[in-house]
Amino acid sequence: FTVWKTADPASAGKISAEIIAKTVIAKPDCLLGLATGSTPVPIYKELVAQHKKSNLDFSKVRTVNLDEYVGLSAEHPQSYHHFMMSNFFDHINIDLQNTRIPDGMAADLSAFCDQYEQQITNWGGIDLQLLGIGLNGHIGFNEPASVFTRRTHLTDLTESTRKANQRFFNSLDEVPRQAITMGIGTIMTARKILLVCTGIKKAEILERTFFGPIDPMVPASVLQFHQNVTVVADEAALKTIL
Ligand code: F6R
Repeated sequence: FTVWKTADPASAGKISAEIIAKTVIAKPDCLLGLATGSTPVPIYKELVAQHKKSNLDFSKVRTVNLDEYVGLSAEHPQSYHHFMMSNFFDHINIDLQNTRIPDGMAADLSAFCDQYEQQITNWGGIDLQLLGIGLNGHIGFNEPASVFTRRTHLTDLTESTRKANQRFFNSLDEVPRQAITMGIGTIMTARKILLVCTGIKKAEILERTFFGPIDPMVPASVLQFHQNVTVVADEAALKTIL
């Protein structure tokens, strides 16, 4: 894998945005796999700036998001739908018909997961998948488990993930207990993976991901098997590696 070491999260955002922008310019109707959370916020900020300053064109770009909480409506301030609109889609010229985010309110969640997977296939597969990483090594909401997950599915969130995400809610009790997530198998079909990781708290899991055994208890470690992974990380996250 290729590693970009940056001084801080803001410059990690700039480099990551550059990689995404290059993909969009090379293939204007590319399919981008997108992530939410704190890590990609500076990336979306930079892409919005490039759209405004340099007319980076998203009119034909298609997007699929990794995950969404079960039980939160699109309007809920902590839903990933809301996150994508307010951090990115509201500020660029993307056609919302070309965007997909799992529907955590679907009446038949299992049928929805199958349709989601089918949509990715119909759109020709993911060209570039953006990933953050959880403190427990999750990617998407693929939590540590005894086997690697396959395709888009309904999952229970671990206490560790719920506690890590509590900062966005009023109390731990409000953090949803389930989510829909692309599977590890879905993520691995992406032609290119961009993993972004910042902050000292992530240093240990980043090291285990790339230098530890490939183990479903560290879901991101599966990326050692992927042939086109770029890691963008700041000095703090790379402290024990580089
Ligand atoms: C978000 C997602 C999660 C986050 C991870 C890290 O769509 O799939 O795997 O990337 O929980 O979150 P932050 O960036 O908030 O530390």
